[in-house]
Amino acid sequence: MTIISHDISKAIALLNSEDLVAIPTETVYGLAGNIYSEKAIRKIFEVKQRPLYNPLIVHIHAIEQLDALVSHIPDKAKLLAKAFWPGPLTLILKKKSVVPDLITAGKDSVAIRIPNHPVALKLLKGLEFPLAAPSANPFNRISPTKSNHVEGYFKNKIKMVLEGGACKNGIESSIIGFEANNPILYRLGSISIEDIEKVIGKIQIKNKNETAPDAPGMLEKHYSPTTKTILVSNVEKVIGVYKNKSVGLLKFTGESKYTNIQHVEILSETGNLEEATAKLYSALHKLDNLNLDIIILEQFPDRGLGKSINDRLERASQ
Ligand code: TXA
Ligand code: MG
Repeated sequence: MTIISHDISKAIALLNSEDLVAIPTETVYGLAGNIYSEKAIRKIFEVKQRPLYNPLIVHIHAIEQLDALVSHIPDKAKLLAKAFWPGPLTLILKKKSVVPDLITAGKDSVAIRIPNHPVALKLLKGLEFPLAAPSANPFNRISPTKSNHVEGYFKNKIKMVLEGGACKNGIESSIIGFEANNPILYRLGSISIEDIEKVIGKIQIKNKNETAPDAPGMLEKHYSPTTKTILVSNVEKVIGVYKNKSVGLLKFTGESKYTNIQHVEILSETGNLEEATAKLYSALHKLDNLNLDIIILEQFPDRGLGKSINDRLERASQ
């Protein structure tokens, strides 16, 4: 039985005995274990049914912990950490040998972030080790932004979800690594490209590399509902085609004026991209649970967090 609980000391006890706990962060819930426990890390891969070639993110609570884990921090990484930590930024840096190869899938680099969630930070401060935590969903499925999403996925497979409310940001962290000291954005995420470039100038984007994924979060099919899902630029143009089907629609803003659609999720009535991002996965979970014939996603504006949302919508509809 999985219990949903606010009890941080219980979470600490489980993690200290090499067990897993699903934890809240500001982006999505993570499935956490002690980075130094092979037993815990293997269990993360097993519970998620995640292939071992897909490395995990290490979560710490203070920038001072970095030196013990990584051998080199490029200047632009320092600027980014200063600007965005604690927060939804993951940095990929050259690892020291203390970081187990199982975490990094044999890579010589490790992904690290400081989450900006009071419960996660309090938990991390109460532990003597960092936590490896991928998003708490089965491989390829929609990431969880509420404790009950995690419970629905992993009933009986994990003992505890640490309750932390609905995730404020709602999509995963932005992942930035370095090639010859040049910053590369491997995963669009909770921080807009515009905001990243305000700190370090132009950044190259490499988030679509299906054959040899540097960050397998780039896999084309990902974040997927089990219901058939399509992405369109304009709902009006396609809606007639599905008139005899039960249809769900997810769109950015505007009114719900469709009479032949079973369920409509409007992510922000006022057209606010932050609000839409925060609600995105919850709306996808909801639509996926309605036993519809088809889910239609309408493309978002190609600016700010709209780019990150469009990235997820594309992968959800593959
Ligand atoms: O917001 C987030 O980042 C959430 C919360 C829980 O922190 N975590 C998350 O983890 O999204 P996950 O495992 O679902 O995605 C981590 C991504 C994967 O695409 C993985 O391939 C990439 O990070 N990654 C991890 N280590 C890497 C490395 N050394 N080099 C390149 N990519 C790496
Ligand atoms: Mg994930």
